[in-house]
Amino acid sequence: MSFIPEIIENYISNHTQSEPKLLQELNKETWQKVLNPRMLSGSYQGRVLSLLSKLIHPKTILEIGTYTGYSALCLAEGLRNDGKLITIDKNEELEDFSKKYFQKSTYKNNIQQIIGNAVEVIPTLNNTFDLVFIDADKTNYATYFDLVIDKMNTGGIIISDNVLWSGKVVEKLNPKDKDTKAIISYNKKLAKDSRIETVMLPIRDGLTVSRVI
Ligand SMILES: C[S@@+](CC[C@H](N)C(=O)[O-])C[C@H]1O[C@@H](n2cnc3c(N)ncnc32)[C@H](O)[C@@H]1O
Repeated sequence: MSFIPEIIENYISNHTQSEPKLLQELNKETWQKVLNPRMLSGSYQGRVLSLLSKLIHPKTILEIGTYTGYSALCLAEGLRNDGKLITIDKNEELEDFSKKYFQKSTYKNNIQQIIGNAVEVIPTLNNTFDLVFIDADKTNYATYFDLVIDKMNTGGIIISDNVLWSGKVVEKLNPKDKDTKAIISYNKKLAKDSRIETVMLPIRDGLTVSRVI
């Protein structure tokens, strides 16, 4: 979901770098063949992720929530030549799809794909990270943050997606809506954590960037 009027959104995309050809292909095939294609970051958010990654120029990236590999490839654009991106997803049915695009990309030797529950996988990783992208199940966002914060290098960033959750974060809360409840509490948690500097950006469904001090 986007909060910006369509006319402004079109103006923004017309004045933003367009997505590379491989990502256009991946985007199209996801919409043709995969369930819930709206989960894919998309062209504009993808360019934002790519630029943030290029500014950080990370040695190691962790992505939680691979889906079809779109955001992984955007983030990989900023990796150092010898850098590594680890991406985790529990959905084994999407493994071959994303792998096909990772293999076609120039980052095929830099990307490690892990199939599994991120809550169980992250504690087994012996890496430190310069950039983490949290984009999986909303009820575990706080857990993911707690699992990665001590693995972050100073100056590194944690990017959290869907922090506005279609605007539900400011509506009357349905007590049965666990996802909205989790996102509201996650946003509060980030805003008051003194280990990070946090800025929430109204990009697409809301993107928070937290820089580790
Ligand atoms: C919104 S999609 C990710 C979209 C992707 N980052 C992009 O922008 O193209 C969320 C993904 O998280 C995965 N996921 C959900 N819960 C998970 C968990 N506990 N561990 C690992 N992956 C999980 C889902 O299978 C889904 O593919």
